[in-house]
Amino acid sequence: MTEKARAIPDRMKGRDWLMTQDWSDEEIELALDTADQLKHEFKSGVPTLHLPHKTMFLIFFDKSTRTRNSFEAGMTQLGGHAHFIDSETSQIAHGESPKDMGTILSGYGHGVAIRHDLVPGEGQSYMRDVAHWADVPVINMQCDVDHPCQALADLMTIREEFGKDLSELKIAVSWAYAPSYVKPMSVPQGLIMLMTRFGMNVTLAHPPEYTLMDEPLQLARDNAERSGATFEIVGNMEDAFADADIVYPKSWGVESLFSKPDEAMRVAQQYRHWICDEAMMARAKNEAIYMHCLPADRGCEVTDAVIDGPQSRVYPEAENRLHTAKALMALTM
Ligand code: CP
Repeated sequence: MTEKARAIPDRMKGRDWLMTQDWSDEEIELALDTADQLKHEFKSGVPTLHLPHKTMFLIFFDKSTRTRNSFEAGMTQLGGHAHFIDSETSQIAHGESPKDMGTILSGYGHGVAIRHDLVPGEGQSYMRDVAHWADVPVINMQCDVDHPCQALADLMTIREEFGKDLSELKIAVSWAYAPSYVKPMSVPQGLIMLMTRFGMNVTLAHPPEYTLMDEPLQLARDNAERSGATFEIVGNMEDAFADADIVYPKSWGVESLFSKPDEAMRVAQQYRHWICDEAMMARAKNEAIYMHCLPADRGCEVTDAVIDGPQSRVYPEAENRLHTAKALMALTM
């Protein structure tokens, strides 16, 4: 008999996904189970038309490869349509308010997703404003505080590698040098919040200027205490990598310098030696895996030998963005 898609539970219908912290452990587990199921069905060629004729609006204030395409392809695979809105070519550029965006797009479709990640203090607040006025679910495709879609895909990837009991694992989340652009702070912040919550021992490493925001740091400490994990901050990549099971070195910006990219790059230049190369990988466990949300600055954040090497999981990690995006849309819309 031909396999049929498993039904999607309806208890999350209408819910926003703005920070992983807004969903309970049980709700995150449901998202992960749903992503596993949708991944299996995608690979088996089983149609998963859970959102026929529905429209998701994708508002981008920043560039994207994985996020935009996983949401667009994912929505097609769910039977609906994802509609791209560029902040620069819509009336947002002329100051159209989050109230108008949330209210009007709610009248045209069934969900709104937003990326607004490059201005500390603005993205999460903008999304909460849109969500207040929208009567459809709002999904955070990356803000200044959290990248919950990335963190969920990363947790899925780690569980595929190590199983569900993550309590003995050490993950090193480290700053790394990148000259391409001032990268948002939300990936490391999303990681320290979610991985402490799911029991991983998290070591964060960065140069002194690259401290993360207070709220995610406090949530990471609280989550670690509740789960029985540890959360520590060190001042170099070497200590973070020591005996790690998972290493996640990537660049992010200085919170006060996002509006001053030239100055931000001058600060970063001092730390060009913060690169993940084979010698650095040798400090982690032999079976450790290398992760990066991508895009990575090859030759700066990481060498080709590492990102293309046997310990790298960047492509399965990127692929899981599709399955988790589909899970979040199918559950909430
Ligand atoms: N990891 C991630 O969010 O990739 P994009 O910036 O390409 O969407």
